[in-house]
Amino acid sequence: MASIHDFRTWKKEGRAIPCLTAYDAPTARLLAEAGIPLLLVGDSVGNTVLGYRDTVPVTMDEMLHHARAVRRGAPDTFVVVDMPFLSYQVSDEEAVANAGRILKESGADAVKIEGGRPRVPTVERLVSAGIPVMGHLGLTPQSATLLGGFKVQGKNAKSAEALIEEAKALEEAGVFALVLECVPAEVAVEVTRALKIPTIGIGAGAGCDGQILVVNDLLGMEGGYRARFVRRYASLDEIITAAVVRYSEDVRDRRFPNDEESFHLSDKQRDEFERKRGRPETA
Ligand code: KIV
Repeated sequence: MASIHDFRTWKKEGRAIPCLTAYDAPTARLLAEAGIPLLLVGDSVGNTVLGYRDTVPVTMDEMLHHARAVRRGAPDTFVVVDMPFLSYQVSDEEAVANAGRILKESGADAVKIEGGRPRVPTVERLVSAGIPVMGHLGLTPQSATLLGGFKVQGKNAKSAEALIEEAKALEEAGVFALVLECVPAEVAVEVTRALKIPTIGIGAGAGCDGQILVVNDLLGMEGGYRARFVRRYASLDEIITAAVVRYSEDVRDRRFPNDEESFHLSDKQRDEFERKRGRPETA
């Protein structure tokens, strides 16, 4: 399993870090087998899997449920779990208790929290309790309404400078990596240069130390809106629909199941069955 130390070394060596979200055991297993060194159980599970409009309603229990599944599917991969909205903002004590639950009850390796300067004391408390923390700056979906919607952040000189300063403050507080979401590529490059810890970009250009995508987006199962930063590597939505239509036609036309897809009695079992039912034995 890759470690926090490896991620830092890879940054130094200029080795890019491919990360993906995962929400269930079979997908986690496939991503791990494909060599993804860091899986994020994102609270994007809310909109990608659970049918919520956004990440705000996601609960601790839901995160734990999905985190456990991902850990079971990928026992030897570094797993980060998003702390859901209001599980770390109310007090640092609650943050430690909730992050502790995530590590202890799911077997994950680290947690991720969103936000800049106001989160610095929380990061310090978590790290001093021995909990590895990933930061998340730029577009932070849990507070998208406050940010005025799902918009690129750090577009003017003042907000770009603030973003760089917040990134440094989070590094200082102890985060081991930093997600940069929807940040102009030029600003992400500056943040990446300013930090020793790796930056992991999503909609933040090619200059970050690693990249992350929501796995459903990459596989073509985003179901509706597709963000500009998404690259589809497959169209599973089309493959799934075509497979289900064929299955449904086969059932309707009685082509499924066929003989080989059915279980049969042995000759002896058939004779006994027929006898019991009062029918003559076969020759
Ligand atoms: O919840 C999530 O999937 C995330 C990624 C977009 C980084 O936070």
